[in-house]
Amino acid sequence: MNYITFALAKGRLADMTMELLEKIGITCDEMKEKSRKLIFTNEDLKIKFFLSKASDVPTYVEYGAADIGIIGKDTLLEEKRNICETLDLGFGKCRFVVAGKKETAERFNKSNDLRVATKYPNIAKEYFYKKKHQTVEIVKLNGSVELGPIVGLSDVIVDIVETGSTLKENGLEVLAEICPVSARLVVNPVSMKLESERIIKIINGLKSLKAV
Ligand code: PRP
Repeated sequence: MNYITFALAKGRLADMTMELLEKIGITCDEMKEKSRKLIFTNEDLKIKFFLSKASDVPTYVEYGAADIGIIGKDTLLEEKRNICETLDLGFGKCRFVVAGKKETAERFNKSNDLRVATKYPNIAKEYFYKKKHQTVEIVKLNGSVELGPIVGLSDVIVDIVETGSTLKENGLEVLAEICPVSARLVVNPVSMKLESERIIKIINGLKSLKAV
């Protein structure tokens, strides 16, 4: 029997995924030990797990290095990879928004020379160019994007908001909602065919948990 390999995003998303998988009998004791290891195996179940940077999960799944990935819809929208999105897992809920200083609200709707800072340039382009038909300059940052409007790098940001604390504590407000985000189970299209029985069993197991 071949291994089924899962790519997980390091951190909270991976922890929540393992909690969910445990409920359908997919466990990995090796992962519970504190270590710097990146790959873990359950030999009995013939399942491997590896931990990667969130934005790389869709890449591993597209190239078949992982059969299954669990990743936020934010990363999926940004990475646009050729993979099958099969299930909304219902955790890791947050939302994509445009945010900025309160006084930017009017300019945000009218101006064609806004500068937008974001970790998600594709999503920002999609929203401003295709949905709002607004010409903006998009500046890619790699984190702490809330700094953009505060230090004068940008007028607004496109980012995910979960509790809203980061915006609030930095004097920023939501100016527009883009879309909701949650964790998704994605599958490599070839694995979906070659290992369909085992993969569908996992998907159905997780689906049945949602129904409870
Ligand atoms: C994310 C996001 C916001 C923050 C929102 O950043 O980019 O900055 O969380 O969460 P909140 O609404 O609960 O405050 P992350 O923690 O991933 O760090 P980063 O900005 O350095 O990427």
